[in-house]
Amino acid sequence: MPNPQLTAHGELRHLLSIEGLSRALIHHILDTAQGFLGVNDREVKKVPLLRGKSVFNLFFENSTRTRTTFEIAATRLSADVVNLDIRNSSTSKGESLLDTIDNLVAMHADMFVVRHASSGAPFLIAQHVDRTRGPGVHVINAGDGRHAHPTQGLLDMYTIRHFKKDFTALRVALVGDVLHSRVARSDIHALTTLGVPEVRVIAPLTLLPSGLEQMGCHVHTDMRVGLKDVDVIIMLRLQNERMRGALLPSAQEYFKHYGLTREKLALARPDAIVMHPGPMNRGVEIESSVADGPQAVILEQVTFGIAVRMAVMSMLAEAR
Ligand code: CP
Repeated sequence: MPNPQLTAHGELRHLLSIEGLSRALIHHILDTAQGFLGVNDREVKKVPLLRGKSVFNLFFENSTRTRTTFEIAATRLSADVVNLDIRNSSTSKGESLLDTIDNLVAMHADMFVVRHASSGAPFLIAQHVDRTRGPGVHVINAGDGRHAHPTQGLLDMYTIRHFKKDFTALRVALVGDVLHSRVARSDIHALTTLGVPEVRVIAPLTLLPSGLEQMGCHVHTDMRVGLKDVDVIIMLRLQNERMRGALLPSAQEYFKHYGLTREKLALARPDAIVMHPGPMNRGVEIESSVADGPQAVILEQVTFGIAVRMAVMSMLAEAR
């Protein structure tokens, strides 16, 4: 079955998931992002690639980093940006998601950036606009339920490539609430596609989904064993809003076993980097001295996210 996010030429039409993207295409996105960053990898260039286009941010769930960096990215590409105020929109009066989309397309939306609590909502919108509008309208998944957060996965890969250069000699550990994490799923697909030989997942049994070994991961429940000699640590937030029932005894107990402290960080390689997609819960999954310490690259992830989102949007706009 053809990948619904790719054109017949293998270019990005939508970005719905990292699953199914080739290694070459992921590197092409990262290379394109690099081109938007200045020489010191901090300043992001302003370019006219989306002049005359309208990008609509539709965030049905809260966001700080993703929504804001998409807005900055679209502005740097010279697009017009509309942030739909979902709480005060007509969805609260019972309008269906697809009726809302049809109305925004009638206002000449060219691109939708969609965050939704339901897995599959961006896919549904993409299918709908393909059917009703043809290839001119693009959809980017900005996080759907537990399913995927592809631009977070891509900016995580950008960060790893920036600091570690070669994916094919790395040990990477993802730690925490993997069960509810769309970031974990996107990162695992990206890491395995990019040839990382050892992707470790560290979590209590109650926060481990099934099928991780089939995705190419090594599973650990003991953080001290799982962190041994890793090059990259990706910490994950406890997604309390998605938990049904008590999956953990307490936040204190969780921190004792799965919180990243300086003492546990010392088990990784001395040059290991510490990442976190945010929002962070200090004292729950990560100690402040680590989050603010010399090995943390958490704020660099945010800056790189602007360039990665510019890359994705500019590539979608070019798709034939
Ligand atoms: N990483 C991430 O998705 O953060 P926000 O929820 O703030 O967008």
